[in-house]
Amino acid sequence: MSVRRIAQEQPEKFEFNAENMIWAEELIKKYPVGKERSAVIPLLWRAQEQNDGWTSEPAMRKVADLLGMAYIRVYEVATFYTMFQLSPVGKKAHVQVCGTTPCMLRGSKELIEICKKRISKTPHTLSEDGDFSWEEVECLGACVNAPMIQIFKDTYEDLDEKALEDLLDAFAKGEQPKPGPQIERTLSCPESGLTTLTDVPDYVPLNLSSSASDVAEAPVSQEEASGEILTAVSSVATEEKTTEKNEASSKENSSADKSSDDLKSAAATALSEKSSEGKTADDTVSDEDRPEYLDGPRDGNGDDLKMIKGVGPKLEATLNALGFYHFDQIASWTRENIAWVDNSLSFKGRIDRENWLEQAKKLASGEETEFSKRANYDDAPKNDAPKGDK
Ligand code: FES
Repeated sequence: MSVRRIAQEQPEKFEFNAENMIWAEELIKKYPVGKERSAVIPLLWRAQEQNDGWTSEPAMRKVADLLGMAYIRVYEVATFYTMFQLSPVGKKAHVQVCGTTPCMLRGSKELIEICKKRISKTPHTLSEDGDFSWEEVECLGACVNAPMIQIFKDTYEDLDEKALEDLLDAFAKGEQPKPGPQIERTLSCPESGLTTLTDVPDYVPLNLSSSASDVAEAPVSQEEASGEILTAVSSVATEEKTTEKNEASSKENSSADKSSDDLKSAAATALSEKSSEGKTADDTVSDEDRPEYLDGPRDGNGDDLKMIKGVGPKLEATLNALGFYHFDQIASWTRENIAWVDNSLSFKGRIDRENWLEQAKKLASGEETEFSKRANYDDAPKNDAPKGDK
């Protein structure tokens, strides 16, 4: 890590403008009495934003005074984190080039040469027109897309010399280039396509409000599958925002229920099509091992399968789509049935690990389990799938 020193030339003083002062006072109130100094990083950041992208020594003192901290404590924070600039930076871009091993092995030295050529020979020195500056920093957490740079709040990844030149040209023209990978890849997906988790996901994420026909017309390749899910997630986020603004809450609820029903029905169709094609992830599992299933819950009312530890809202919907609505159905599964369900839902081992059958037997006979006693479905789903599980 390079030595970070504050600039020799400093302004006389720093004051937050009126708007930022109100914001700072409100922010400090959010912390418990005696813990206000936890606000040091957001306050320094706001000071830096107000001060043309760099944190002056008077700004550090101002933040320390607001938080009742010793000046040296704020100085330590500001000089430790490379997000805080200790001298003036370029008006259009301050380029932070990651020089840590993965980025170095993938070409960060060449990127630094471009910065030296186009901006200034030494780091933390303004270009002649004052528009650019650069520095080398430690890992910025995007190693998978190395080499990369950060400009203000955004990262630009998968760079080579030409890509960096193009970016600098765009900033020079006052444009805002698209952050993220600068090659044809989605986020941090492998450049050459998927190499693991290559089976097309056969679960239906309930949060996606895509239509039933979207799900039925499932993507055929792995890349299409992941791309489609990402697109759907992003469009759902946008839709949800718009809906929040424009629709009354009752209308929202009704639309969400409909969407959920659509997805359940689409999941059933997709799973049944898959089953009829005899496709399974494990060839040792046959469709003959499929447990007895129902076309719908008996008397129109299924059991609350979320009472089983390990079953969250998503898994419950998928189990329903497979024709399982009641505790006694699950309680009666044989080893072969368990293998079939495991195989069909791509969450191998959880049925045994969480002992679903024992839980289901108790619940089917009207007994409570330790988990069902604690369950409270008005809260966020405690029983949801662990990270990484489908
Ligand atoms: S090594 Fe460059 S982002 Fe991690």
